[in-house]
Amino acid sequence: MGVVRRCPDGHTLGATGERLRRDHPSGLRDLTLLYDSDLFARAWEHLPDAMRTGRTGVDLAHGTDVFSLLEADAHEAARYAAGMAAGARFVRDLPSVYDFTGARTVVDLGGGSGELLAAVLDHASGARGVLVERPPALAAARHRLAAHVDAGRCDLVEGDFLTAVPRGGDVYVLCRVLHNWSDAEAGRIVRHCRQAMAPDGRVLVVERVLPDSHDPWLSLVFDVHMMVMTTGAERTERQYEELLRAPA
Ligand SMILES: C[S@@+](CC[C@H](N)C(=O)[O-])C[C@H]1O[C@@H](n2cnc3c(N)ncnc32)[C@H](O)[C@@H]1O
Repeated sequence: MGVVRRCPDGHTLGATGERLRRDHPSGLRDLTLLYDSDLFARAWEHLPDAMRTGRTGVDLAHGTDVFSLLEADAHEAARYAAGMAAGARFVRDLPSVYDFTGARTVVDLGGGSGELLAAVLDHASGARGVLVERPPALAAARHRLAAHVDAGRCDLVEGDFLTAVPRGGDVYVLCRVLHNWSDAEAGRIVRHCRQAMAPDGRVLVVERVLPDSHDPWLSLVFDVHMMVMTTGAERTERQYEELLRAPA
């Protein structure tokens, strides 16, 4: 797989191995450690039972849901936050596909370590940000967003989007959040946004969209991953539309 290659003195890092170095900017090391963690691997061992019973692999392996488990285990939570931050590097380009420059208050729900909100606030100098998270992720976000918090442009809020979301934002971001939840739960999150947002507000959904065809596609693997890890699923664009159009 190119992790190591032979050299005259023995072995050295190959092209893939180089990317797994702690100092490589891709963050692949953190992603690899997360996907190879006990939390993930033991849940995947229960894939057949998850398919038979409809319970998640995490529940079958660990007897709880993934986010409760992270709240109870600081070590797993730190590894999860690092992996999510590495996987969130693509969001730095989000301001080039959506214009945030007119935004007043951007609320990032389940904003993880703050990669996305930092990119938005760097880009839209007139906007302020609100990041809503569970306690384990807030620590990483506090670090990543420190400059914006110190400048009075960003609030970090401990919250539960299944119960309520902060009011008055004009852009609500759900990045890799809805795919963690069943239609009923995702519907609740969307409803809370609808109730809380400014009249001209918007909800931005950032997800790996499933193809309408049966072509092989990375999001299909993540669909199975969601089944193993959460009550959620990846969805087609039409399924997201149906979720957003559902009556309040
Ligand atoms: C898959 S991660 C995505 C993080 C970030 N948006 C990103 O794309 O990197 C989902 C996030 O939702 C957060 N979360 C889970 N349940 C939550 C809840 N009830 N209220 C707020 N955040 C929650 C988790 O802590 C986690 O950081």
